[in-house]
Amino acid sequence: MTPDMPKAVITGLGTYVPDRVLTNADLEKMVDTTDEWIMTRTGIRERRILPDDMTTSDMAVEAAAKALDQAGVKPSEIELVLVATVTGDYVFPSTACVVQEKLGLSQAGAFDIGSSCSGFIAALSTGTQFVRTGAFKKVLVIGADAISRLVDYQDRNTCVIFGDGASAVVLEPGTGENGILSCYIKSDGTGCKHLFQPAGGAKQPPTIDSVTQRQHFIKMDGRETFKKAAKAMTQAALEATRLAGLETSDIDIMIPHQANIRIIQAAVQRIGISMDQVSVNIDRYGNTVAASIGLALDESVQTGRIEAGDRVLLVGFGAGLTWGGIMLRWGI
Ligand SMILES: CC(C)(COP(=O)(O)OP(=O)(O)OC[C@H]1O[C@@H](n2cnc3c(N)ncnc32)[C@H](O)[C@@H]1OP(=O)(O)O)[C@@H](O)C(=O)NCCC(=O)NCCS
Repeated sequence: MTPDMPKAVITGLGTYVPDRVLTNADLEKMVDTTDEWIMTRTGIRERRILPDDMTTSDMAVEAAAKALDQAGVKPSEIELVLVATVTGDYVFPSTACVVQEKLGLSQAGAFDIGSSCSGFIAALSTGTQFVRTGAFKKVLVIGADAISRLVDYQDRNTCVIFGDGASAVVLEPGTGENGILSCYIKSDGTGCKHLFQPAGGAKQPPTIDSVTQRQHFIKMDGRETFKKAAKAMTQAALEATRLAGLETSDIDIMIPHQANIRIIQAAVQRIGISMDQVSVNIDRYGNTVAASIGLALDESVQTGRIEAGDRVLLVGFGAGLTWGGIMLRWGI
């Protein structure tokens, strides 16, 4: 990053998860699975599920309101709102526009970013560029997904993995040591087929057949996704560290996307850091898609695991395939 530009600094952080808990014991009653299989193969014990009367924008608004409050920024001061999601309220307009209305972000530009589980990295990287160039001084970045709306609760391959949630940060310029030090984004479109929602878009609009054949639910090649994820997360971690001018020995804490504890462990081993340096909450929330990195970041700050000056490495991976990393120095 060009040194004479300001850094983008996280000045507020907020999260939201629904109250309803779906445990492995609940899933045992829905599909042919066991708590033991899910725990050993994924590390997930329970996940949160959105009530019928809530949607992605509602969770986004809850998380964003907390982030704005913590930053001491009024909704009318926000100049840009970005929502990372693949489960927007509508195909169009963007969920960012829905959030804009609900929060009264009267002066903001608004758009969505659809990078699935690496959406938080993509949105935070995008927001960072606007802040660094001076185009905007107050940017709201949200990762929110009601992924349960796309999960087939008859498919044991996917339904054990996912949960709902939202996280949000406020970005502002800063000229000190703290802030975002590097952003790395990468994708491989040849991997579209490994993890996707076949129907519901323009390629296969919803029909009675598509619904009967359950084509509007997530389809995933778990083994292929697993293999690519560990490799891509390692690359993202190493590149974000290198671009920040740091070594892996400089990493104080890594906040990975929470997809599978075994993916995290494999990546951590390849990066050459210890699991003690990694924030893990997958046991309680499962894979919350674009919300996961912000949820783990917030938890690490709340519990005092992250302190001012710490070098924090965010790493994501998701459908597309997409992956990326952000190195930051925590604090205002
Ligand atoms: C999905 C995933 C947990 C499956 O674990 P795995 O160890 O790879 O398991 P496999 O797919 O090799 O399946 C092993 C067996 O378990 C079975 N199985 C799959 N899901 C099961 C479940 N919920 N309960 C019990 N058995 C299950 C499979 O049918 C298979 O049975 P078979 O050997 O008789 O065919 C794992 O591949 C994974 O996490 N992949 C990455 C997914 C991901 O992260 N997606 C989001 C990316 S952001």
